[in-house]
Amino acid sequence: MKALVTGGAGFIGSNISAALLREGAEVTILDDLSSGYAVNLEALPEAHFIKGDIRDPETVARAMSGCEVIFHLAASVGNKRSIDYPDEDTAINVNGTLTVLEAARAAGVRKIVAASSAGLYGELKTIPIDEGHPIEPLTPYGVSKLYTEKMSLAFAHVYGLEAICLRYYNVFGPNQRFDAYGNVIPIFAFRALRGEPITIFGDGMQTRDFVHVDDVVQANLKAAKNRGTSGAFNIASGTKMRILDLAHAVNKYANSLVTIQHGPERAGDVAHSLADISAALDGFGDEPMVAMEPGLAQYMAWAKDEVKRQDA
Ligand SMILES: NC(=O)c1ccc[n+]([C@@H]2O[C@H](COP(=O)([O-])OP(=O)(O)OC[C@H]3O[C@@H](n4cnc5c(N)ncnc54)[C@H](O)[C@@H]3O)[C@@H](O)[C@H]2O)c1
Repeated sequence: MKALVTGGAGFIGSNISAALLREGAEVTILDDLSSGYAVNLEALPEAHFIKGDIRDPETVARAMSGCEVIFHLAASVGNKRSIDYPDEDTAINVNGTLTVLEAARAAGVRKIVAASSAGLYGELKTIPIDEGHPIEPLTPYGVSKLYTEKMSLAFAHVYGLEAICLRYYNVFGPNQRFDAYGNVIPIFAFRALRGEPITIFGDGMQTRDFVHVDDVVQANLKAAKNRGTSGAFNIASGTKMRILDLAHAVNKYANSLVTIQHGPERAGDVAHSLADISAALDGFGDEPMVAMEPGLAQYMAWAKDEVKRQDA
């Protein structure tokens, strides 16, 4: 298989690229390194790397030449960033996605596997959340991911390529670093490993559906290999973990036993999130395999090495 991974220098894209290379695929990565890392690419010497922007039609067309499958992950990522920079979110996630889709159509690509987000459901009304849950995004990011899905599926309908959009929940795993827009697991992990206190917003009884990146990679590979299916699917573990339990588990694996402190609840945070994952199983045979505790232990081992590398 010849594949293009947009955003392949990022957290999820670098893990997908590594798995594709292990399977013998020919991989091109297109990434502008705005939130991705050169160090992720150093571990992927067999990949052909193009530094460029998904909003640039010529670069995208060059990167896509001869590809059968596109894994489209490049994006301005996350609710908070989109609230700070709604124009950038729209430019990259809407205009950039359209540029990728137009190039895919022109190149005769068979399938696009696009990264979507559970963020497009908005305020949660029923748990577990299946794909029939109302879609009422409350942030520019949620809206731009809805566009990503709808336009990918419209291209599938009108131009005959196949599109599978994967609605990720809280993904975690190796290559996920702590940054200003980081998710809760890297924030807790990097703080605990550096001996800094962990802050929980609220009482910590809120729950999240965390999914290990190896399961996200498998979902992408299965979606790519599947023939005939187009649609949008939850990608999650189908299990929940309390944030307080997560903080204690991170502390245990960090061997640091830092203070766990509580801050005020954050406006807009949902109390509970849990996915119904049966549609992905029915649609293209996807099923998560990594349990939370071993997945977290593996991530903490990676994060320990990463903290050493960063602090050296
Ligand atoms: N991590 C999660 O929990 C999560 C949850 C839901 C959805 N997603 C989606 O999964 C995808 C990957 O997310 P991630 O967590 O790996 O984030 P990431 O920031 O690590 O990866 C995004 C990559 O896209 C690149 N990029 C950004 N703008 C670009 C542009 N204009 N041109 C080319 N490259 C560009 C970045 O440099 C980066 O390498 C994103 O589409 C994101 O919205 C992630």
